[in-house]
Amino acid sequence: MPGEVPIPSAKPVIGEAEIAAAVRVLRSGSVVQGPEVAAFEEEFSAWVEGRHCVAVNSGTSALHLTLMALGIGPADEVIVPSFSFAATANAVRLAGATPVFADIDPDTYCLDPSAVAAAIGPRTAAIMPVHLYGHPADMPALRSLADGRHLALVEDACQAHGAALRGKPVGALGTAGCFSFYPTKNMHALEGGMIVTPDAGVARTLRLLRNQGMEQRYANEIVGANMRMTDVAAAIGRVQLKRLPEWVEQRRSNAKHLSAAIRGVPVPHVAEDAAHAFHQYTVRIAADRDAAQQWLTERGVGSAVYYPTPIHRLKPYRGGTWELPQTDRAAREVLSLPVHPALAGDDLDRIAGAVNSLRERT
Ligand SMILES: Cc1ncc(COP(=O)(O)O)c(C=O)c1O
Repeated sequence: MPGEVPIPSAKPVIGEAEIAAAVRVLRSGSVVQGPEVAAFEEEFSAWVEGRHCVAVNSGTSALHLTLMALGIGPADEVIVPSFSFAATANAVRLAGATPVFADIDPDTYCLDPSAVAAAIGPRTAAIMPVHLYGHPADMPALRSLADGRHLALVEDACQAHGAALRGKPVGALGTAGCFSFYPTKNMHALEGGMIVTPDAGVARTLRLLRNQGMEQRYANEIVGANMRMTDVAAAIGRVQLKRLPEWVEQRRSNAKHLSAAIRGVPVPHVAEDAAHAFHQYTVRIAADRDAAQQWLTERGVGSAVYYPTPIHRLKPYRGGTWELPQTDRAAREVLSLPVHPALAGDDLDRIAGAVNSLRERT
């Protein structure tokens, strides 16, 4: 309707509490990795069944350092979905290894275990499922594939803060789990990442890798990078972490409202044993998605496509002979609608109304 404020597809929270936390750290004069990072790691650990947590400067760094800490490098292949953000495969390449793309389950958009089984070869060192849109990948099936071959199972949980499978939080289901704190995620720290692992030795290696290989200053033990999180970012992350349960519940309730009201397009599927974190609420638009998106924009409803081009079709990854029909179809059809916690009931009715009116297009 003319005059109505458009509904954005995402709305990061930078409220008074986040600003106060940042100012408190800035005023302390001690802003680099320090006590706030340590406290954030400890508080995050309570979310992931007490596993070791190592904070870094992004989700990409989290994935990259995890592969390095697990000893995965140039001789190795890592099985990943192509239907993800490029960071998933970039992390594999940055570690010197080779990404091998496997197709997805068309209902959950996550790795299809039978496609993963077919992709395992003599050089496979790890499987890296992505809990895409906040829906947990089929970890029990992937776990049995990984265990049978002694492969690492690295969760890309960058979109899935608050998701769970059979009551267990994502991030605590694999050999390691990686989160992103980019502003549009279910919680943020301006930028940042967190690695979760049950292995104290891996956690120590990660702490060295993020800090030039040092535990003691100038006593460098290994070659590392500077991938530290600042105390300013950690202070904001701590504020957001406290509100994560409330925000994830709100996302679930918004998704329920939308799924009850939307007609004529397939709404998100939730596996029986899964608690979806609804980072995205994604429908399929089989015909002329661009025109549908334009129609929604004209009705003040923001939307976004994650992802229009599968990773195997991006310039750095082209040239393989991949057969990924479900990935290609999803890339043509998916459209994510607003589901963020700042939506009001009226907004949800407007979103559903605009989607339902797609049938009226001539
Ligand atoms: C699935 C996935 N993996 C990895 C990343 C990388 O996270 P970051 O942007 O914090 O580096 C993101 C986030 O953008 C993501 O969505």
